Amino acid sequence: MLKKLIRKNEQTISNDLFERKKKAQQEKLPNHVAIIMDGNGRWAKKRSLPRIAGHYEGMKIVKKITRFANELGIKTLTLYAFSTENWKRPKLEVEFLMKLPEEFLGTYLPELIDQNVRVNMMGNIESLPEHTKKAVKNAIDRTASNDGLILNFALNYGSRDEIIQAVQKIASDVQEGIITSDIISEELLDSYLMTKDLSEPDLLIRTSGEVRLSNFMLWQLAYTELWFTDTLWPDFDESCLLDAIESFQTRNRRYGGLKGEEIN
Ligand code: FPP
Repeated sequence: MLKKLIRKNEQTISNDLFERKKKAQQEKLPNHVAIIMDGNGRWAKKRSLPRIAGHYEGMKIVKKITRFANELGIKTLTLYAFSTENWKRPKLEVEFLMKLPEEFLGTYLPELIDQNVRVNMMGNIESLPEHTKKAVKNAIDRTASNDGLILNFALNYGSRDEIIQAVQKIASDVQEGIITSDIISEELLDSYLMTKDLSEPDLLIRTSGEVRLSNFMLWQLAYTELWFTDTLWPDFDESCLLDAIESFQTRNRRYGGLKGEEIN
């Protein structure tokens, strides 16, 4: 069944893409790709459509890119779907965005299960509307034993919030004598973050021409390779993901040190 689905999907991509995909797979792939999916509103505006039409189109791209990332062999795909700041948007837009996880999982969950994808979520899940929470929790539960691609939604997520929550918990654990302050280290802070079970992103993509991080994974992105494109999220496709990966594969990641021949 899984093979049949993959074959069917592969038929839909062109030969050129198929070759680029094969080549990318022969080199070092990023384990963890994180994406700031931006530009839905502008995509809709260009077509004189309401902003929510852009978000709906954006959701379809999430399906496409999840499938392709899984086929490629990427281990974790983190998608910034709703930030803690997005509550400031008009009520109707927020309500629509809160319906998207249900809509997405309602039609796509069986395929995700079939493709061995594990759904994960980071963000403040408890303050989501009941219907959104239910859909997300159901997907997390039903895919919990899958060990393929981790599809990690950042939903009601803000990096500063995440760091503050972690620091508060560390402080309270010190106060209660569960840990002592002398063991506070990068690794310890990592273990209090919402990403504690995930590797750090190797590649961050932001669409739509904006070149900023917008409160997204500020701690985790310290050594991540960044890739920006003018393409609006609803126009993003497999070829764009390959562009980003091909660029990643030319980068020389040194983590502040030097490599081999550079040392002399
Ligand atoms: C930013 O574009 C995008 C968002 C705030 C929402 C992103 C959500 C999706 C792509 C769909 C999520 C799908 C699931 C399954 C949860 P913008 O509205 O800020 O665009 P603009 O900058 O052009 O106005």
